[in-house]
Amino acid sequence: MSQYTLQNQRVVIIGGSSGIGLATALQAAEAGANVVIAGRSASRLEEAKQQIARAASACGNRTVVGYVLDNQDEEQLKSFFNQVGQFDHLFTPGAVYTRGSLSSDRETAESCFKGKFWPQYFAAKYAAPYMSSSGSITLMSGGFSQRPLDGGASYAACNGAIESLGKALAVELAPVRVNVVSPGTIWREGQEGTPRGDHFKDYEKLALLQRVGRNEEIAHTVTYLMTNTFTTGSTLFVDGGYTLI
Ligand SMILES: NC(=O)c1ccc[n+]([C@@H]2O[C@H](COP(=O)([O-])OP(=O)(O)OC[C@H]3O[C@@H](n4cnc5c(N)ncnc54)[C@H](OP(=O)(O)O)[C@@H]3O)[C@@H](O)[C@H]2O)c1
Repeated sequence: MSQYTLQNQRVVIIGGSSGIGLATALQAAEAGANVVIAGRSASRLEEAKQQIARAASACGNRTVVGYVLDNQDEEQLKSFFNQVGQFDHLFTPGAVYTRGSLSSDRETAESCFKGKFWPQYFAAKYAAPYMSSSGSITLMSGGFSQRPLDGGASYAACNGAIESLGKALAVELAPVRVNVVSPGTIWREGQEGTPRGDHFKDYEKLALLQRVGRNEEIAHTVTYLMTNTFTTGSTLFVDGGYTLI
C-alpha cells in the first residue's frame, strides 16, 4: 500500500458539517479514513454524518463521529480533544465572522480574529498532545491575505496571521507537519439566482481561470497536504489565479 494514503487514518475536521470541511470529510472517508467532524449545530452534524457514511460505505467499514462544539470556547476545545483522543490529521475550517471596513465598529473589527484565528490557534494547542508523530495540521486562511479588496482590513490581517501561524507551528510541532490552505472564492450551494449568487460573477472576473472554485477543489488540496509526507510550513493558494492578477 502507498504511504501517501489516508487508509485507516483518523481525521478530525472542526467545521466538517458543511462547505469545504464537509467536502474534505467526504474525500477523506472515500480514501479510507475514519472521520470525526465537529460544529455547533447537532442537526447539521447528523445530516453530514449520514452523507459521509453513505460515501464511505463503498470503501469498507469506516466510522464517522460527530461532536457538538463551539470553537470560540477554549474550554470546549480542550474537552473536545480529550474526548477524541489519539488521531492523525486535523483540519480547522470552522469559522464565523463579519468582514468590515476600517470604519466598522470594534466588534466587527475583532470578529475575524475571534472567529477564525484564535479558534485555530487553540485547536492546534489542545490537539497537539493527541497527534500521531506522522500526522498533520491544515489551517484555513483565504485569498485576502495576499490580495485584499477594499473593506476587509482585519479579515486580510487575520488570514495573514494564520499563514504565519502555520509556519511557526511547523517549527514548533515537527515532526507533525503543519500547512495552510488559502482558497479563493468558492461557490456556495443554493445561491443560483440570488443577489449573492450574482455577486459571484464579480469574483469570476478576478481570477485567471475566470470562475469561482468548488468545495471539492479545496478538499483535494487538504487531503494532499494530509498525505504528502514532505510538505510542512507551506501555504497553498488554491484560487484559480486570484492572487496573480
Ligand atoms: N467559501 C469561500 O469562498 C471561502 C474562501 C476563502 C476562505 N474560506 C474559509 O473557509 C472556511 C469555511 O468556509 P465555508 O464556505 O466552507 O463555510 P461554511 O459552509 O459556512 O461551513 C462552516 C463550517 O464551520 C462550522 N462552524 C462555524 N462556526 C463554528 C464555530 N464557532 N464552532 C465550530 N464550528 C463552526 C459550521 O457548522 P455550524 O454552523 O453548525 O457551527 C460549518 O460546519 C472559513 O474559514 C472561511 O473563511 C472560505
